[in-house]
Formats: sequence, C-alpha cells, structure tokens
Amino acid sequence: MKVISILNQKGGVAKTTSAQNISFGLKKLGKKVLLIDFDPQGNLTSGVGIDKRGLENTIYDLMKDRAFGLQNLGLDDIMVNKEGVDVLPTNIRMSKVNLELGGVPGRENLLKEILKEVYGYDYVIIDCPPSLDNLTFNALIASQKVYIPVQTEFYALEGIVELMDTIDLITQRMNEELEIGGVFATMVDGRIKLHNEVIEQLKEFFGERMFNTKIRRNVKVTEASSYGVSIFDYASRSNGAKDYLGLCKEILKREES
Ligand SMILES: Nc1ncnc2c1ncn2[C@@H]1O[C@H](COP(=O)(O)OP(=O)(O)O)[C@@H](O)[C@H]1O
Ligand SMILES: [Mg+2]
Repeated sequence: MKVISILNQKGGVAKTTSAQNISFGLKKLGKKVLLIDFDPQGNLTSGVGIDKRGLENTIYDLMKDRAFGLQNLGLDDIMVNKEGVDVLPTNIRMSKVNLELGGVPGRENLLKEILKEVYGYDYVIIDCPPSLDNLTFNALIASQKVYIPVQTEFYALEGIVELMDTIDLITQRMNEELEIGGVFATMVDGRIKLHNEVIEQLKEFFGERMFNTKIRRNVKVTEASSYGVSIFDYASRSNGAKDYLGLCKEILKREES
C-alpha cells in the first residue's frame, strides 16, 4: 500500500482536482484506491458528489476519537464508496483541529495510526490543505510520497523552497521514508509562452522528478467536479481525461517498477 500526499501550500493549483482524478484514473487502471479529503474546505468531498453539510462523521471525527483514546468510531462509519473508489470525507469542522487537538501528545501521528487499520488498497491518496500546518504534517508523516502540482503561472516557483524545507524537516525528524515522488504542471496552455518557460524552469529545478505529462487547462475538468464526478465519468474523451490518464500511467511506471 502506497500512501501519497498531493501537496502545495498555494491554493488553486489543482491539488483537489488532481487528487480526485488521479484516484479515479488509478481505479480505471485496475488499482484499489482510498481517497482522503484532508482539507477542512471539503472541496474534494463535494467534488466526488458527497454532501459535506450532511455528514455525521468525518475523517476528523475519527482522528479526535483516536486522539482521546476512544474507539467509538471505525473507518466503516465514515467511508463512502463513490464509483469504486473509497472516500474518507471531511467538512469545515476539521478547521478546529489546532484548537481541539493542540495539546494532544502525538497529534501529528493520528493519520498514520489510523492508516494502520486500513488494508487491501494499492494506493491511498491524500488531498492536503493549502498550508504547512498540523494537518499537513499528519499527511506527510503518514505518506511515503509527496506529489506536487504546480500551476504554470508567473509566481509558480515562489513558495517551492519553503515547501521543500518543510518536506526536508519531516524527512529528518519524523518520517525518513518520505520522498518527493513527482511534480507535475497543471492548467497548462501550450500557446502561452510563459507556461512553457515555467515548465522548463521546473524541469531544471526538479530534474527526473518532473513528470512528462502536463495537465492542460480544460473546462471539462472543472465541470466534472461541479457535477460531483471524475473527468473519466464526465467527459472520457476530453483532454482532461487523456492528461490525467497519462499521468496515472506514468505514476504506475514510477511506483511499480
Ligand atoms: N486542468 C484544469 N483545467 C481547468 N480548470 C482546472 C483544471 N484543474 C483545476 N481547475 C480548476 O482550478 C480551480 C482550483 O483547483 P483546485 O483543485 O480546487 O485547487 P487546490 O485544491 O490546489 O486549491 C478549480 O476551480 C478547478 O476546477
Ligand atoms: Mg483543494
């Protein structure tokens, strides 16, 4: 079982969209996937078609349960199956994490502990919040790999150093297994010179870790999430579907060779 965090502390770079479509793409390629919404905004939860306001329990309730040594909740109480992908949803109540779990010892290890109860999956994909805080630490400590989506805009590389420093810190102190598994460009328009320049800069900076597949800007990708389905279920012939499937094939090549 490989645990992969999709992380970039910038908002709006396609973390959530990628977490969703990578998960459904891997499922399409025959893999068993668990998808975790770890951002209190709950965009992924909505994106896969779950009503986040109506949720009785979320991944956060499970973390709290374990933090206080209770065993009142199980994974089955929270998990929702969506078109063959198991999802652990969340909602805005998770934003109380620092307030409610701030003083709990081992609060950075809660997700890792929970994932010890999980079996039978090939991949666990975690959609991280746009921040480098306790929730993100939980995700990174539970993961073997970080994948970084980068939007090819003018400030794309800003913040990357800070992100690398955080990953280094986790690697040195808390999870020596953790690696940057790959970096991919999102919302690319090949006609825009700047986008191609940023991709070249990323290749220079990340070398081999840069995925060859670029995710092009494609309105179908946004539409799919707004209808609560993946790009494969919404527009299977779109560029969005082609790109995410290409990325998933590249992921399997890297992770399974
Ligand atoms: N390939 C794409 N083409 C067009 N729009 C996209 C694409 N990928 C993501 N988006 C849109 O960009 C916005 C930000 O994406 P999102 O996944 O929510 O980013 P993040 O999770 O990093 O904040 C959303 O409205 C999403 O639908
Ligand atoms: Mg998001």
